[in-house]
Amino acid sequence: MRTSELAEPGSGEAVVKVDAAGVSFGDILLRLGVIPGGPTPPFTPGFDIAGVVEKVGPGVTGLEVGQPVAALLRTGGYSDRLIAPAERLVPRPSGADAVESAAVALNYFIAYQMLHRVAEAKPGHRILVHGASGGVGVAFLQLAQLAGIETYGSASAEKRDLVTKFGGHPIDYRKDDFVKIIRSLPGGTVHAAFDAIGGSHFNRSSSVVGRGGIMVAYGQSAALVDGKPNKAVGARGFLGGVALPKLIPNGKRTTFYNAWALEKSHPSAYREDLAEVLKLLAEGKISPLIAKTAALEEAADVQRQLEQGAVTGKVVLTPGDSK
Ligand SMILES: NC(=O)c1ccc[n+]([C@@H]2O[C@H](COP(=O)([O-])OP(=O)(O)OC[C@H]3O[C@@H](n4cnc5c(N)ncnc54)[C@H](OP(=O)(O)O)[C@@H]3O)[C@@H](O)[C@H]2O)c1
Repeated sequence: MRTSELAEPGSGEAVVKVDAAGVSFGDILLRLGVIPGGPTPPFTPGFDIAGVVEKVGPGVTGLEVGQPVAALLRTGGYSDRLIAPAERLVPRPSGADAVESAAVALNYFIAYQMLHRVAEAKPGHRILVHGASGGVGVAFLQLAQLAGIETYGSASAEKRDLVTKFGGHPIDYRKDDFVKIIRSLPGGTVHAAFDAIGGSHFNRSSSVVGRGGIMVAYGQSAALVDGKPNKAVGARGFLGGVALPKLIPNGKRTTFYNAWALEKSHPSAYREDLAEVLKLLAEGKISPLIAKTAALEEAADVQRQLEQGAVTGKVVLTPGDSK
């Protein structure tokens, strides 16, 4: 752990006392330097936070000291206090507690954007979600169920109950061929496939998307082999799985989404969508799976557990519990 003096908030900035900070697989990918354009070490990881505004800088409007907020940041979450642009801080409605808000600020936010903004999935549509038992996967399941969308979710056999619990049809990715299963369904296709496995998996996901549908790639876990980035798998995924299929006039779309993908085309989407997710949380319509909370000092151990696939659900750091 590192301690440093907190500066005064600048124009348009605010100081947040962090009550909860999510740990995610992306933190590990950033640390390993796998994500293009990521920060250079040393940096403080942590995308998703919830806390309370402690101080506001000049020019900040609509944000009071004491306001509970949540945010999705590029880095810096693993802190007890941080300075963030006020425009990133979204008010938490009462009923959205800090730990659960941090647990939805990345996973549910991105699942919401991919489902509703990118894929424009509608009631009655059928979708395919890989890694459906994971943090983002469960978010997809809950949000799709809420919107009347039918979900097929690939997960390991041990976690099939988690998929059915949230209304999905489980597919055992070790034993079953998802392409065969989807093709055997009435209509034989899905409106959208969400894939963070990557490599040649993107093409298999695209193959079950129907005309007018979309394959949304949002990660490449296959490009990380034994903790080391495999550039060939990554390039195969980006070029062969996302870029080249765009040139084929088959009525389907492919795209690579990340949490910042809509910032230019829809500048208001971040605040609107995070506010909507926090509202669903406060109303009890979504409920993130929390594996455990941990002190800031435990962050490295938690990342190791995540890397080994030993965690089901979100781990949230609670800086207030740190020594
Ligand atoms: N683009 C973005 O902005 C963004 C943001 C956040 C996350 N992500 C990416 O999203 C992915 C998921 O993140 P997460 O936090 O949900 O991770 P997670 O909680 O660790 O879940 C990953 C899941 O993937 C499953 N899995 C592994 N291999 C699989 C395969 N071949 N087929 C189907 N499922 C498989 C695992 O299932 P079992 O345990 O059942 O084996 C695990 O539950 C990561 O690649 C992450 O980098 C991207």
